[in-house]
Amino acid sequence: MTTGASSAGADAGTSAGLSNLLHEERRFPPSPEFAARAVAGPDLYERAAADRLGFWEEQARALRWERPWERVLDWQPPFAQWFVGGQLNVAVNCVDRHVEAGLGDRVAVHWEGEPGDTRTITYAQLKDDVCRATNALLELGVRKGDRVAIYLPMVPEAIVTMLACARLGAPHSVVFGGFSAEALRSRIDDAQAKLVVTSDGGYRRGKASALKPAVDEAVAQTPSVEHVLVVRRTGGEVAWTEGRDVWWDDVVPRQSAEHAAEAHDSEHPLYILYTSGTTGKPKGILHTSGGYLTQCAYTHRNVFDLQPETDVYWCTADIGWVTGHSYIVYGPLANGATQVVYEGTPDTPHKGRWWEIVQKYGVTILYTAPTAIRTCMKWGDDVPAQFDLSSLRVLGSVGEPINPEAWVWYRRTIGGDRTPVVDTWWQTETGAIMISPLPGVTATKPGSAQVALPGVVADVVDDTGASVPDGGGGYLVLREPWPSMLRTIWGDDQRYVDTYWSRFEAMYFAGDGAKKDEDGDLWLLGRVDDVMNVSGHRISTTEVESALVSHPKVAEAAVVGATDPTTGQGIVAFVILRGAAAEAAAEDAEAGEAVVQELRRHVAKEIGPIAKPRQVMVVAELPKTRSGKIMRRLLRDVAENRSLGDVTTLADPTVMNLIGQGLGSGS
Ligand code: WT7
Repeated sequence: MTTGASSAGADAGTSAGLSNLLHEERRFPPSPEFAARAVAGPDLYERAAADRLGFWEEQARALRWERPWERVLDWQPPFAQWFVGGQLNVAVNCVDRHVEAGLGDRVAVHWEGEPGDTRTITYAQLKDDVCRATNALLELGVRKGDRVAIYLPMVPEAIVTMLACARLGAPHSVVFGGFSAEALRSRIDDAQAKLVVTSDGGYRRGKASALKPAVDEAVAQTPSVEHVLVVRRTGGEVAWTEGRDVWWDDVVPRQSAEHAAEAHDSEHPLYILYTSGTTGKPKGILHTSGGYLTQCAYTHRNVFDLQPETDVYWCTADIGWVTGHSYIVYGPLANGATQVVYEGTPDTPHKGRWWEIVQKYGVTILYTAPTAIRTCMKWGDDVPAQFDLSSLRVLGSVGEPINPEAWVWYRRTIGGDRTPVVDTWWQTETGAIMISPLPGVTATKPGSAQVALPGVVADVVDDTGASVPDGGGGYLVLREPWPSMLRTIWGDDQRYVDTYWSRFEAMYFAGDGAKKDEDGDLWLLGRVDDVMNVSGHRISTTEVESALVSHPKVAEAAVVGATDPTTGQGIVAFVILRGAAAEAAAEDAEAGEAVVQELRRHVAKEIGPIAKPRQVMVVAELPKTRSGKIMRRLLRDVAENRSLGDVTTLADPTVMNLIGQGLGSGS
């Protein structure tokens, strides 16, 4: 860890200072009408506090189990098993049981493509689609336990494939479509995936953008892959490897719509999802079945006040992130919700596209990220004002701290000053929401995620692991295991232990700085490790540094996340160029600018466009401690144009002058 929680506070991506945040006086209690109809009541907290494990059992009973569990929790710290001995099928819970309950005609997904094409999928149709896809996977040789990589745009086939994998018990590994061929290759390889499901491409910003070329490049180096199953979405030309590549349309539609699902153990692996850690190698977060689905369904119902008969829910995340897994696929479908799934970008073909979708489908619950809210704020109030947003009744936020200003704008401008706003804190590792207000119960407070959900035990501790008093700050920890917790890092138990369970004795270390205010409410302040949060996406500084030094012109690189008013943090890279390149850049500003652009493109190609540095600064030297560690805090100060603070530990104090001179060659 390079920074303490106090410096993390300055990273929270908020315009107001921390002390302002903690003196937030505004409160928004639920209206009596809302509270009277709400799914959650204050009794949830009491019941969970009285008998935590019994409370989780009660939540698990909302699912269909083919065999009941014998023990609710087996905790061999830090390895947990939940609902031990129980068996269920996750896909049956998400689809079949709703059809069997007579809800087959209910719309599961209102899908809206970016170009404006639409598909309406009922639960009955979804069941048939999932069964056909399951049978197709079987025909392609996939068996229980095999891994399947999914690299798809936001098309219904992504949901169908995930559920088909769950049905078979073949863990999926969804790789965000914005990731590069190299990122895909390393993820396929780490999981030893047997099948890749992809498409010719998808629509982004009004254009067809190809996906298959990245798969071809990746799979050329991953011998574990036997087949590539290709969904036709854009109709673009694709290169084809006979025998390996198979069109979805050639194998899936002709399958039987019947598939007798096997019940899997509660702890059977459901999926692997890769997330950035503090080293260059992404961590394969492993989630299992019974506990994960229990907490997804419970949180989705209570945090969003889901009334499945009448609500139209919309989560704007991509299926490539955990939010898409838990709050597009597993939570909503387990609850029999009707939801909107949108393929594209918020400003295509115009900046009101999201609000047009809300109006068109009568969306009642909206779940999105602060970065999107701040972008909409920037576009102006007159954009949403052109649409009827009166159907909305609950608004959610996730992915990064939401500054009070954006929170209040969201409630007023989007929610008509009527909707509760729930700021939900969780992580890929936690699997489901952990800290959030409950609509209908909590008097909400702009900027604070407030309290741990019933059944979850969170705390803020100091360096020594002691709980801080109200008003204090430190590190966010979780004191008790929870059903949807990660079980390990795929293939690396030791890294699991080291990363999450070694910083503090018997506590899960989340990697976030946090404060408790005078009411005991929690304020999340951003990462305290070398992980950046850019538009709600986790990217490690080391990953970007490795990408930079893989370029032949780069000798050394240091990367920091600098506060950014829209994206939370922006990636700023400091690079030392190699001999000839360095000389050329020093002599000629144009050559310097050209190399900066070349390096930005190089990172986008190596990792994906989300990792493209906002700024690249060419410098002659980097500030290091006497032990040779790059002083990222200092670089962040430079990137944010703050005063430099204490530089007495610098090996060479003149370095900062050199860096100062390099500030000119930004982007
Ligand atoms: C990190 C987890 C959870 C799904 C999306 C991101 C930050 C997440 C909040 C929030 C403050 C938040 C944390 C966390 N984060 N939600 N409501 N308030 N910070 O999942 O990629 O695993 O990132 O996102 O820093 O550790 P992820």
